[in-house]
Amino acid sequence: MTDRLREICASLPACGTFADVGCDHGYCAEYMLKSGRCARAYLTDISRESLKKAEKLLADYIARGQCVPVCCDGLQGVPERCDCVLIAGMGGEEILHVLGERELPDFFALQPMKNADKVRRYLISRGAKILRDYTFRAEGKYYDYIVGRGSGGDEYADYEFYFGRDNLKGPSAEFYEKLKEEQGKLKSYACARVSEENRAELRERLLLLEEVIDAIENDL
Ligand SMILES: C[S@@+](CC[C@H](N)C(=O)[O-])C[C@H]1O[C@@H](n2cnc3c(N)ncnc32)[C@H](O)[C@@H]1O
Repeated sequence: MTDRLREICASLPACGTFADVGCDHGYCAEYMLKSGRCARAYLTDISRESLKKAEKLLADYIARGQCVPVCCDGLQGVPERCDCVLIAGMGGEEILHVLGERELPDFFALQPMKNADKVRRYLISRGAKILRDYTFRAEGKYYDYIVGRGSGGDEYADYEFYFGRDNLKGPSAEFYEKLKEEQGKLKSYACARVSEENRAELRERLLLLEEVIDAIENDL
């Protein structure tokens, strides 16, 4: 298991039914089943080839009926409401597509590869309670991770939607490094040949980013 998956699994609670959406290799479901943290796990993947990897890894659990593989889009082929839903390694837009308008699960763990701000906005608009929302570094890359409950309600300020609430509470060295890396990228994109509209968007994002970087540096 990679460090990224280890970090993700560490926040998954004990539950009755667990769904690993876009499971691919199936390592997270394996962790949940092996550690006894869930009674039953659904493995879903839209790709039959990807799902086959998880089916191979979890063949014994599948044979015992403790694990159910489903080749489907998101949760569409899962016949029951799962207590805990993990969606990791997909784009934010894809995560929103999977969650859609259905009732949110009791517990969710989401690791969007991009557009984390859209995921936060969606969750808040749907009445979710965010328990953890932070950036971590693993295998040399930065990842956003958002964990929470499907109900309870919450409020976010504009900066928190962009940067993740816990990152702003007590900025970690990892988060600061991520901002600096993003600052460098945005500066080079803004100098590249992009449309005026995209350049304006990049500048706006850069401005916000630099405000947060300044605030962190002033606190150092
Ligand atoms: C990059 S892999 C991530 C695998 C694993 N969750 C992880 O974090 O390491 C993304 C997986 O999601 C699957 N996937 C993409 N869109 C999906 C959807 N709408 N429903 C189910 N699976 C999807 C892909 O086929 C692929 O296996």
